[in-house]
Amino acid sequence: MLPIAVLASGSGTNLQALIDSAASDVDFGAEIVVVITDRPESQALQRAANAGIATEVVTFDEHGNRDAFTKALCDAAEDHGAQVLVLAGFMRILAPDAVERFPNRILNIHPSLLPSFPGVDAVEQALNHGAKVTGVTVHFVDEQVDHGPIIAQEPVPILGEDTAESLHERIQQQEHRLYPEVVKALARHRLEVTGRSVEWR
Ligand code: GRF
Repeated sequence: MLPIAVLASGSGTNLQALIDSAASDVDFGAEIVVVITDRPESQALQRAANAGIATEVVTFDEHGNRDAFTKALCDAAEDHGAQVLVLAGFMRILAPDAVERFPNRILNIHPSLLPSFPGVDAVEQALNHGAKVTGVTVHFVDEQVDHGPIIAQEPVPILGEDTAESLHERIQQQEHRLYPEVVKALARHRLEVTGRSVEWR
């Protein structure tokens, strides 16, 4: 079993999809050993507790700068035996030190087809740009924001009547399917990274 830490700041629906897959798929290959949040009000904490998973709260304010905050997060994950960090709606940028400690061992999910619309408000950006298609990207985290090697992408059409809310809802349906698939592939050693290229074996 690959021990993973899931990091979440918000509603935690992607965390829930991972919890559900780990529970229902005997071949999943990964175990969520801890859920870490930077926001004590995150619903991720309740979702973890309901599933009997350990939780840690590491706030930015108690550490005051990105390096110390990142170190505390990585330490917490390692204390629980995690070998991989899975960012699931984690709203803080990690210092480069995290990538050094977990090389090609940090995953992120982003609600656009990167490299289009990186950063915050990706769904609004795509809508305001008049794009016809956006989607979901799962990638390895490197030193730059929303930039590391792309593991999987899923397109989502933008409809004429879409609001940011309706579009995000359809994007999330794809996220909840794609993220567990990628975590399973990583756990089962199916992902081979060469530079920016990720091959599925
Ligand atoms: C997702 O849309 C993800 O792509 C983005 O943040 C959102 C998190 O949603 N990074 P949730 O907390 O998993 O519901």
